[in-house]
Amino acid sequence: MIHARGPGEPELIVAADPAAAAELAARRIADALERATARRGRADWATTGGSTPIGIYRHLAVAPLRDAVPWRSVQLWWGDDRFVGRDHPLSNVIAADQVLLGAAAFSGQSGAGDSGVGVAAGLEPGAPLPVANVHAIPMAEAIGDGYGPAWAAARYDGELRAAAASGGLGVRDGLPVFDVVLLGVGGDGHVLSVFPDSTAWEAEAWALDVPPPTHIGPHVARVTLHPGILAVALEVLVVAHGATKAAVLADVLGPTRDVRRWPAQAARLAGATWILDAAAAAGLHR
Ligand code: 6PG
Repeated sequence: MIHARGPGEPELIVAADPAAAAELAARRIADALERATARRGRADWATTGGSTPIGIYRHLAVAPLRDAVPWRSVQLWWGDDRFVGRDHPLSNVIAADQVLLGAAAFSGQSGAGDSGVGVAAGLEPGAPLPVANVHAIPMAEAIGDGYGPAWAAARYDGELRAAAASGGLGVRDGLPVFDVVLLGVGGDGHVLSVFPDSTAWEAEAWALDVPPPTHIGPHVARVTLHPGILAVALEVLVVAHGATKAAVLADVLGPTRDVRRWPAQAARLAGATWILDAAAAAGLHR
């Protein structure tokens, strides 16, 4: 079911349930990655954390999408992450490692594309992204070397700028241009790790450290990309499901625009796509 919204509004798709939302989102991402590769030989995808991407990764990791996406040209980035090790349950990378990249990541042979790799260990082959194309925010390195989130943010900023300087990652209005950005919506209306009343909007850096939020868990420091990336991204895809998101989505997609209060409104853009399940969409003003 597709509800057309007014000018300047995203396309809003209400799927029957979380599984249907995940499948639709996976297809949108696969299409965006294919399109970008066809156009410029490379596709930059900024993914998200939380529970939202898990179902999406499941679809991308197996046929037919696994075989349709030109994984070798895909560069995978993160919109935000928590200041924990990569294999920590709170990490925004662990779901990608386990579900999207699967056995390929665990075997260290990501990129081989061999469907037999790690299957004996009970892991699906996963999407064959070359290891060098997986750009996790360097939390584990920071923690291991005794640095804090500001160091990880500065390193990530440098990695993004190096990708831009080499001509691979586009830049517009002084910000990196992703071919597709996948986002979830927090219970307080946050997006990325840009919380209500965030100072991130004023920042110049592409990646910023964020102190542990006190109003919402998990209460751990973060690194986030600048929210301005949403306005310059080629595809912005927001996915949310479940009744617990209904009230905040009614505000975020409601009549009052206040991006400081509901940062997810930064993704409420013409040309963006929001995929909600029926439970999450239950409070929307029709
Ligand atoms: C984070 C996330 C965050 C997430 C939303 C939705 O690290 O906090 O990246 O922006 O996408 O909180 O989370 P769920 O998908 O778990 O609902």
